[in-house]
Amino acid sequence: MNQEKILVTSALPYANGPIHFGHIAGAYLPADIFTRYKRMTGADIVYVSGTDEHGFAITIGAQAEGHSPQEHVDKYNKVISNIFKQFNISFDNFSRTSMPHHHKLAQQFFTQIRNNGYISKKTTDQLFCEKCNMFLADRYVYGTCPDCDAENARGDECGACGSWIDPLKLKQPHCKVCNATPTVKQTTHWFLELGKFSKDLTAWLDTKTDWKPNVKNFISKMIENGLEGRAITRDMDWGVKVPLSEAEAKRLYVWFDAPIGYVSATMEWAEKIGQPDKWKDYWYDKNTQLVHFIGKDNLPFHCVVWPAMIMGQDEDFILPSDVPANEFYNLEGKPFSKSSGWYVDIEDFFKTYNTDSIRYCIAAGAPETKDADFTWKDFQGRNNSELADILGNFINRFLKFSANYFENKVPEYCNPSNADTKTLESIKELSQTISQHYSHFHVRKAAFTIMELARVGNRYFDEKAPWKSRKTNIQDCACTINTCIQIGKALAIISYPIIPTTAQKIWDMLGLPDKIENNNWTEALQTPVATGHQLGNAEVLFAKIEDATIAKEEEKLHSMVAKDKADNAKEKTEKTNLITFDQFLSVKMQVGEVTQAEAVKKSKKLLKLQVNLGQKSIQIVSGIKESYQPQDIIGKKVIVVSNLKPAKLMGIESQGMLLAANDNNKLSLITVDNPEISTGSEVS
Ligand code: 2FM
Ligand code: ZN
Repeated sequence: MNQEKILVTSALPYANGPIHFGHIAGAYLPADIFTRYKRMTGADIVYVSGTDEHGFAITIGAQAEGHSPQEHVDKYNKVISNIFKQFNISFDNFSRTSMPHHHKLAQQFFTQIRNNGYISKKTTDQLFCEKCNMFLADRYVYGTCPDCDAENARGDECGACGSWIDPLKLKQPHCKVCNATPTVKQTTHWFLELGKFSKDLTAWLDTKTDWKPNVKNFISKMIENGLEGRAITRDMDWGVKVPLSEAEAKRLYVWFDAPIGYVSATMEWAEKIGQPDKWKDYWYDKNTQLVHFIGKDNLPFHCVVWPAMIMGQDEDFILPSDVPANEFYNLEGKPFSKSSGWYVDIEDFFKTYNTDSIRYCIAAGAPETKDADFTWKDFQGRNNSELADILGNFINRFLKFSANYFENKVPEYCNPSNADTKTLESIKELSQTISQHYSHFHVRKAAFTIMELARVGNRYFDEKAPWKSRKTNIQDCACTINTCIQIGKALAIISYPIIPTTAQKIWDMLGLPDKIENNNWTEALQTPVATGHQLGNAEVLFAKIEDATIAKEEEKLHSMVAKDKADNAKEKTEKTNLITFDQFLSVKMQVGEVTQAEAVKKSKKLLKLQVNLGQKSIQIVSGIKESYQPQDIIGKKVIVVSNLKPAKLMGIESQGMLLAANDNNKLSLITVDNPEISTGSEVS
């Protein structure tokens, strides 16, 4: 059989914040599982990704954190790389789109596609926020979706119906930065004429007979509905420069350069392994399967824009072979959102729990065909009732038995009964089944199959009751334990793609040499552990997670939301209290001199003052009696709001107001630095 050649990619995460379980479940864990499986089958496979470091969102994120975009992406590239390391995502290379060779390649794509007549220049209307003084990137506008009327739809895609939105068609648009209603302004941009690729895209899509039907239908519909040109430049100064002298103030749209990151990440990988041209073996070879793992929100870009870009340039790059797009993975029923406190702190998570427990939990509930959820209870259940009670328990019981009664060596398999041969058959069947699941990206079913084999093992152990046969039929007992050891080996192999650290532990506990991943999948499954082989030491694979621990996590989650709600309310109040400059100018403030002051009878707080404003004198009733005696303030130069509508306080008319600072009800009048200043001078 010819060796399979596969290039696997995971969507490039924005270097704009830490990633969370939701991202991991959609595009990284399934890709890692597939890659680990394929590596063991002997495929020639390379797995790349990297941080997506351009775009408007990054500049806003950098601004919010008070550093430059470069510092921002440097920071989050590290944060994200570390999270992936802790998750054991086995990239061959994790690159960055800010690398110079990536910029060069993205410019090459632009130039070639333009020279081939697929990019045109147009002056168009675009949403502009007068308050922020900038054109609004699609993601920075929100409003009501023109297709499904969902509120809070993003200007590029609607999260509810998935449709691809023209931000100008968004109903009731708002600037995401400041909430103002944007205006429409003209600007010149370069457009990728997607319509010119419709025929070729359809022909290419027709060859994809084994794609998930929902993915294929979605894309076919998009093409049938007619593809319009999409602007691939932006008015900004962060990103890949548009290689045209007339576009110096523009940058390539982040979604234009991001998928090119797959190629540049492979180039960097080749450079790193000391074979700089090796990337070409994949990107120029029609036999390479190019598999893009993404979340469903990235479908239009990977199945329409990116293939069109490949078709429109001059290099003979391969087109995507498969695009396993996953649905959304939420947290206890709602999308993960760091900004609303609805998230799991990944750093804390790894300090407390086992990485393989979360890998298994996500895989077992992966959002393959519909949206799915991470819940703390499910996590506990998967860990305690499946990994610990079924898998861990099975491995532990036969290893302990071997240590206690067979000198920790593999006992002989002879005179097998029906139950023994049937069990060995089950190993074969389930291993074949799981291979199919892994090949077709069905990680949920794969996780289920692992547990199924562990259940088979436990049932077999119970039925054969070696603790009895040890006394009555030692040969049968030996045969049982031998069979359990073979199940254990198969479990290590088939679970490796999902729980690699645990699989290696089982492998070591079985005393098997080398790293598990250096074995060939089929060969290792077909080779039984030999009679007499020395086993290793049994260890507990999964510690149970207590109810109290989970209750604490749930409580933490809900208190984070409550805190966030309070913070938001405070911020909102602060925001709504903001006044415009014009509002400020409408308040007339003048320097006044207090000429008379007397206490208002029966009032604890009020003084009645006469204040000279130069041209005129006004009467002010002021609540400063607890801080000032009347005689103390006569002759003081104070600041007066002089255009207040007159109002009556305790029946006395007040025609203005004195400004004073209030420190816990201790008032201090605002006065002027230069006492020679003329009374009546305006304060601005
Ligand atoms: O949606 C996102 O998070 C993008 N950063 C994905 C880019 S995928 C690819 F095209 F690079
Ligand atoms: Zn704005």
